[in-house]
Amino acid sequence: MKDKINQLIEEVKALQASTTEEVESLRIKYLSKKGTVSGLFDEFKNVPNEEKREIGQLLNILKNSAQDKINSLKNTFAANNKSDRDLDLTRTAEPIKLGTRHPLTLVKEEIAEIFSRIGFTIAEGPEIEDDWHVFSALNFPPEHPARDMQDTFFIEKNPDILLRTHTSSVQIRVMKNQKPPIRMIFPGRVYRNEAISYRAHCFFHQVEGLYIDKNVSFADLKQALLYFAKEMFGADTQIRLRPSYFPFTEPSAEMDISCNLCGGKGCPFCKHTGWVEILGCGMVDPNVLDNCGIDSKVYSGYAFGMGVERITNLKFQVKDLRLFSENDVRFLEEFKSAF
Ligand code: PHE
Repeated sequence: MKDKINQLIEEVKALQASTTEEVESLRIKYLSKKGTVSGLFDEFKNVPNEEKREIGQLLNILKNSAQDKINSLKNTFAANNKSDRDLDLTRTAEPIKLGTRHPLTLVKEEIAEIFSRIGFTIAEGPEIEDDWHVFSALNFPPEHPARDMQDTFFIEKNPDILLRTHTSSVQIRVMKNQKPPIRMIFPGRVYRNEAISYRAHCFFHQVEGLYIDKNVSFADLKQALLYFAKEMFGADTQIRLRPSYFPFTEPSAEMDISCNLCGGKGCPFCKHTGWVEILGCGMVDPNVLDNCGIDSKVYSGYAFGMGVERITNLKFQVKDLRLFSENDVRFLEEFKSAF
């Protein structure tokens, strides 16, 4: 009997199971009322007295190790079952929060898309520029106030290195490097030294445009801008051009659209005029063409420039410019389904 018990102790130590059902059948086999261990306890009655002590101890060792083994097998399955439950591959995935595109990006892309339909491609250029690309080549006289410290962020003086105040500098870069016909738009960030308030910021975004070819006329400019206004603000939109002045265009104009809120009837938004200003434009000054090596006797062109924040305000009535650069997700998420 001693040998039998010792053998069983070894057997129990080596027990293995791969399911909870298997553990249960092992428990029944060894530890139930009719199981092996109980059977041995029954046999114990017949053990001669002088062996009782030794065999009794062995029997207890067997019983305890069988119990320990089965409990530990049970526990492994309990733990495994728990992680099985955590890993339910049929469950729907955790909803992942998707970001949204910035309203200025949405509007910039919409502007670019509209102009691409009438043949305009995109060019970009550096934000840190020299005086020549931002002012001199664009026909700004040396004493022009836009060069003043009040407007321009200078990085170095003599020779002047500065943050561009408009993306017309990219027009210059393109005209220097390409031969007409040129039909391009120039989106990008620009900087002006202004106090930050709800209606002004020290940086904002522009989309400028340029078309240079033989026989380009003011009528072509008007036609392109009317197309843009109708596509951007709706088919009923009207435009109006008012004479203006820019050093780099002659003649120059500012363009208004019929107020997109009241349809031109007059409301507080358009200050009861029925019109809101959206951009500056004009025929490229012959001096600018010549500065860039384009023969102004052969070629003519038009240019325009608009503020992306301004267009976004008109489209979405954003009252405070500062919201565009504060990264408040509650504001940004409002534009989720804008286009
Ligand atoms: N560069 C001008 C500005 O920043 C806009 C403009 C571009 C006006 C082209 C006329 C023609 O204000």
